[in-house]
Amino acid sequence: MHLARVAIMIGPKGRGSNMLAIAHNAADGRIPAEVSLIISPKLDSHAAIGAREMGLRVEHADPNREGYTERLLELLQLHKIEFICLAGYLRLLPKEVLAAYPNRILNIHPALLPKFGGKGMYGRHVHEAVLAARELESGCTVHFVTENYDEGPPILQKRCPVEPGDTPESLALRVLRLEHVAFSEALAKVIRDTQAEV
Ligand code: GRF
Repeated sequence: MHLARVAIMIGPKGRGSNMLAIAHNAADGRIPAEVSLIISPKLDSHAAIGAREMGLRVEHADPNREGYTERLLELLQLHKIEFICLAGYLRLLPKEVLAAYPNRILNIHPALLPKFGGKGMYGRHVHEAVLAARELESGCTVHFVTENYDEGPPILQKRCPVEPGDTPESLALRVLRLEHVAFSEALAKVIRDTQAEV
């Protein structure tokens, strides 16, 4: 069976826990994929170090540098990447990259989109907003990436209750546990659906 070649893009400050969950699930055969490449804006971040410790290939691409789009396209082509996962990558992707990977770029968001999404809605801000709105449940959404923040078609959601007395931290942790399962399930589904189309 062909293992799809996946790149995971991380941000400068992420823990990299979603990245590691995907890499472990792929290594264990739960996703028909191999994590071929990690793209990181920093090589000495916690996430980048964790990736290398796991034996993953980490390459550097800095969105603040000139030539970023070309650098990304070059890396993706060089490593024959078929699917991209954004795991803690908080920016919009260059439109050239979006165009090269239609319905092949996935993002995870720590809330039940379309609620609590959009620019500035990341990390703690999301969980604070969920608690302020007195929601009874939260969860995570894996969706396809488009040119707007958090607006692409959803692939799957997982839900959990908001408990009385929750803090942004306690809610974030409950949601993060769901994220680690949801991202791999969504990636496996997209790969299988794409391969079935061929
Ligand atoms: C996750 O909460 C994810 O939903 C969001 O960024 C966070 C990344 O966490 N997009 P980690 O770096 O994967 O631990």
